[in-house]
This record gives sequence, structure tokens and C-alpha cells, in this order.
Amino acid sequence: MTTAVSAEGIKYAYPDGTLALDGVSFDIREGERVAFVGANGAGKSTLLLTLNGVLKGEGTVRIHGVAVEARNMKAVRRMVGIVFQNPDDQLFCPTALDDVMFGPLNMGLSRNDAMAKAEKTLADVGLSDVGGKSPFHLSHGQKKRVAMATVLSMDCRVLALDEPTSGLDPKGRKEAIKLMGGLSGSLIVATHDFGLVRELCDRVIILSKGKNVADGTPSVILSDSVLLAEHGLE
Ligand SMILES: Nc1ncnc2c1ncn2[C@@H]1O[C@H](COP(=O)(O)OP(=O)(O)O)[C@@H](O)[C@H]1O
Ligand SMILES: [Mg+2]
Repeated sequence: MTTAVSAEGIKYAYPDGTLALDGVSFDIREGERVAFVGANGAGKSTLLLTLNGVLKGEGTVRIHGVAVEARNMKAVRRMVGIVFQNPDDQLFCPTALDDVMFGPLNMGLSRNDAMAKAEKTLADVGLSDVGGKSPFHLSHGQKKRVAMATVLSMDCRVLALDEPTSGLDPKGRKEAIKLMGGLSGSLIVATHDFGLVRELCDRVIILSKGKNVADGTPSVILSDSVLLAEHGLE
């Protein structure tokens, strides 16, 4: 059994003093699909951002044995892709295709190879027709898919998605779940979407006030109404 992500005693306080993570520890096996659920402000987004060193607090995070610290950042970013909740935080190029090419180019692919990879990835997310458009001119659902493609184009071993179905219409939501279901590698999602958790995940961890307070299969955790209510989840 290979451990993909190992987190030990992660604490993180924002510069204003807000303690967002207060000692979170867990291991995720290679290929496992894990959901983090929790009320607003529980620390889900902060936690995802510690996985590839965007945020660095106390404690240790290891990705396939490599510590997430400054000297390893290149290797870590190669292994962990994070899809932000808000696609506007992810997309910054003149066209969607440029955004999706950015990662492959950074990895050292030639322009031609990066373009081929980006075109294929846009096709995988069902957006072959919008590559030339400015992300500004896309719908929210299309932006979310382009944001996902910017990370999928790097073939990361660990993929972390923050609220991947938020703001999507039912069809878009279904497509996003199907897309995630077809991925290989380890998958981590922060979400309020229990349907997604049931359909997609092997395991669910409840975060509450910056601590992980429950960990189990979706069928057990999500049917424990007392536990859910205790942590602000219905
Ligand atoms: N940039 C920031 N500066 C200060 N506090 C923040 C910042 N971002 C998030 N927080 C706080 O950190 C805590 C955890 O937030 P977050 O990780 O976004 O939770 P979640 O994703 O579960 O809703 C909350 O109390 C939130 O208000
Ligand atoms: Mg969040």
C-alpha cells in the first residue's frame, strides 16, 4: 500500500490571527478518493492549500514521501494539482487554451506538445470549441471545466478540488462527477455536495473548527445525523 498524502499535525493561522487549522492529521492511500466535508469556515479550503505549499503552517505534509517545503516545491507542484473553488482565481491567460497550456509548458513540454496536450484535455472536459475564447467570456460552468483542465493537463498523481460542483447546473454537476470518476490517481475533494461524496468517494472526513473529527465510509458518516448536526452539517 502506497501512501499518497500524509499530513501530521497541521496548524495554520492566517496573518490576522485566525486559526484555520488546529492540528489536522490523516493519511491518504494512492488511488483513494476522499471527501472533506464541514461547515463554512471549517478549514477545508485552507487544508487543500497546504497540500502543495501555497500555505505553509506548522506540522508536516508529505506527498508520496516528499515533504512539502520550499526546497521540494518543484517536485510537489508536479505531483499535486489544486483546482480552486472560484475559477477566476485559476484562469489568467488571454485564452482558455493558453491557460490549459500553461502547466505543460512549465513542465518543459515544447509549444507544439503543450498545445496538443491542452487541446486533448479541453476535449476531455467537453470544451474543444472554446479554446480560443477568453475565459472572461465563458459561463461559470465552462470556466470551472477550463480550471479543471488546467490541472488535468499536468497528469498530477494527487488532485485536490475545492467545491468542484458548486454553482453548476444539474447537467454540469453530473458531467463534473463523471469526469472526476474517470480519473486515475488520488482524489481529494472539499465539498458540501453529499450526493457527490456518495457517488464518488471511498471515504469522508469531517472537518470542524480546524480539526478532523470523524473519518469513515460515506455510508456510515453521512447517515449519522447526530454527528452531522453536531458539526453544522445536515
Ligand atoms: N485570507 C484569510 N484571512 C483570514 N482568515 C481567513 C482567510 N481565509 C479564510 N480565513 C478563515 O479561516 C477559516 C477557515 O476558512 P476556510 O478554509 O475558507 O473554510 P472552508 O473552506 O471550510 O469554508 C475561517 O474562519 C475563515 O474565515
Ligand atoms: Mg472553502
